[in-house]
Amino acid sequence: MIKNDLFLRALKGEVVTRPPVWMMRQAGRYLPEFMQIKNKYDFFTRCRTPELASEITLQPIRRFGMDAAILFCDILVIPQAMNIEVEMKSNFGPFLPNPIRTQKDLDRVIVPDVNIELDYVYKAIKATKELLNNEVPLIGFAGSPWTVFCYCVQGQGSKNFDKAKAFCFSNPIAAHVLLQKITETTIAYLKAKVKAGVDVLQIFDSWGGMLSPNDYQEFSWKYINQIIEALKNDAPVISFGKGCWFALHEMGKSNAAAIGIDWTCSARNARYLTGGNKTLQGNFDPSRLLSPPDEIKKMVHEMINSFGKDKYVVNLGHGILPNIPVDHAKAFIDAVKSYNG
Ligand code: CP3
Repeated sequence: MIKNDLFLRALKGEVVTRPPVWMMRQAGRYLPEFMQIKNKYDFFTRCRTPELASEITLQPIRRFGMDAAILFCDILVIPQAMNIEVEMKSNFGPFLPNPIRTQKDLDRVIVPDVNIELDYVYKAIKATKELLNNEVPLIGFAGSPWTVFCYCVQGQGSKNFDKAKAFCFSNPIAAHVLLQKITETTIAYLKAKVKAGVDVLQIFDSWGGMLSPNDYQEFSWKYINQIIEALKNDAPVISFGKGCWFALHEMGKSNAAAIGIDWTCSARNARYLTGGNKTLQGNFDPSRLLSPPDEIKKMVHEMINSFGKDKYVVNLGHGILPNIPVDHAKAFIDAVKSYNG
């Protein structure tokens, strides 16, 4: 049994005294103890070494006492396992030297045995569960098929993922083959993660907002929903789509346990569009953590009042930025813990 089950209860829609809180990308570069490890080991060594991944996962929990931990890893371990080379270049981000642009490229993409290829992730989960000692739940995550596809085709980060979109619209059949392969791999991977011990799953659709509402249904949501349907009896699934407010009505009808909201959508709109009965997660503007701590506290309390304390998980509207002062992150977490209606 998990001692602090506030997060699990909010995901079930139970009445709570205050909402739970965690931060997307909470294990990251704004933490000096993270930077110490980052300076010693390259990115994928950190992901692949259970002692390092579990230590990094625990760092924000020890410092701030969030209500959930999220396993340190990356969404791009999926293409790696599918025989697509991925590098993490410093001061640049992900780089895929051989992106998927043609049928010939597509032919070398495999649906791997995730039990073998991603074995290090399950080892990291087991090591992390031990360190956590059942204090708080552990979240496992994956990118949405569309977001992973964006990197596979574009080959790197982008402001508009024009090459990924061009591939979809000029060769939709091949695009759907790749999206389906990513979906199958992701489903098997997330099932294995739950078996290894994660309590909750989150799908990050960071680039869903690049698509028009119709294209979003065809190239992104369809695949996210396959994942939700395949996993709904294994663990609660949170679906976060950045810039995807236009799809909230559809998301609200799904079997996701919760829907992540970014900061461009008001609580009122998010509640309305999702039908009023779904657990929602979000949506503090990550840049607003640069405001003074007492202002952060005030804004967090207002945010909880507008979402309502029940069926709600406090979070940022996207990942925490590397330039956030540690005491501002602390003010965010503390504000939730001091909330009493
Ligand atoms: O939330 C957590 O604390 C767990 C860790 C986590 C990482 N990546 C570690 C990481 C999570 C949840 C991710 C997800 C991820 N990775 C997403 C979806 C979430 C989002 O923020 O949109 C995406 C799009 C990626 C791909 C990725 N990985 C990018 C674009 C980058 C470079 C940009 C950046 O933020 O630096 C990464 C590298 C990465 N993944 C870092 C971390 C902590 C920073 C680089 C490093 O530590 O060396």
